[in-house]
Parts: sequence; structure tokens; C-alpha cells
Amino acid sequence: MPERPDPRIQSLEQLKTATMACRECPIGEIASQSVIGEGKLKARLMLVGEQPGDQEDLQGHPFVGPAGKLLARALETAGIPREQTFVSNAVKHFKFELRGKRRIHKSPTQKEIGACHHWLEDEIALVRPGALVALGASAARSLLGRAVPVLANRGQWLPRPDGLEVLVTLHPSALLRGDPEEREPAFEAFVADLRQAQRLFR
Ligand code: URA
Repeated sequence: MPERPDPRIQSLEQLKTATMACRECPIGEIASQSVIGEGKLKARLMLVGEQPGDQEDLQGHPFVGPAGKLLARALETAGIPREQTFVSNAVKHFKFELRGKRRIHKSPTQKEIGACHHWLEDEIALVRPGALVALGASAARSLLGRAVPVLANRGQWLPRPDGLEVLVTLHPSALLRGDPEEREPAFEAFVADLRQAQRLFR
């Protein structure tokens, strides 16, 4: 399941260059640039989202838009120092559709997640994290190689064949979309999931 890392990718810079040129699926053509992960090498925890959003696509950094701000607040509340993590995405380009001037996020297909999977494995091989967090269904699918019902598995650690454990939780954007009255309990539940990884930082 986890693909063998590409020996030509020896650094994050090489990963950025290679993903910039990637046209293995149609998304590479429409995005402004590829967005790879950022953070600490040998991080105790690597968090994986779905794909860069509008802001991430423009700025070239992962999780810098509204979902990223929510994630930062949740990590802080859970007692997980973000600067000691590595944050990335299952898909390296932003998929969207134009509505007027607005670029509206479109979820990547299973095929697109599959096409990008080897870049994520290259990244994991470079970062060598102690454990992983799947933020949402796309990340869980890529990291675990199968469809994972997120609500049924949230807050649980699922093992990969390479021995790395994956903590499954929701994508922070799901909290932003929810009913305003439900947002605070949903945020608390998200933090409770992330707290499962807090022991890695003690
Ligand atoms: N959503 C993601 O999954 N990743 C980002 O980098 C930003 C928003």
C-alpha cells in the first residue's frame, strides 16, 4: 500500500519542483502552483489535510487560510505545539470551479487522490514523522489506502502496513460549514480527537 519512495526525491525542494511540473491528473493545469507540506523534519506528528485552498494556492503554503487558522487554534487548545509538527495535504494542487470571480473548492476524486498518493509517500519518507493525523476522508483514504468512514473512526488510531499509526479526525473545514450553534461543541470534539496525539509531545 504505501508506495516505495522515489529515490530521486531527496529533499522538500526537489518535491516542490517535481510536484510543480506534475500533470498526472488534470488539477495541476488549473492551480497556480503546487503546495507541499511545511514544518519540522522528524516531527513527532504529521498532519495531512485534503488539498490546498484558495489562499494556500495563492501563497504557496499549506493551511494559511480559514481552515488553517482553525487548525492552529485547535492544536494550541489541545496542547500540541504546531512548530513541532509537519502539516501537509493528500493532494498538492488546488481544485476549484469558477463562480463569477470566486474560486470554489471542489473535492478531489478518488482517482486524483490516487494520482497524488506517491508524492505524499515521498513526503512522509523525507519527514519521517512519528505518527500521522488524517484530517478528513481524503487524507484518510490516501494514508490508509482504503475508504475510512471518518465519523465512525474519529479519535482512533489506525495502523498502516509500514507501522505508522494514523489518528483519524474531521477536516477543520467541516467545522466551518456547520450550523453556527453547533460550532463550539464541534470544535471541542475536534480538539478531543487531537488530544489523542498530545502524549507524543510530553
Ligand atoms: N484545506 C486543506 O485540506 N489544506 C489546506 O492546506 C487548506 C485547506
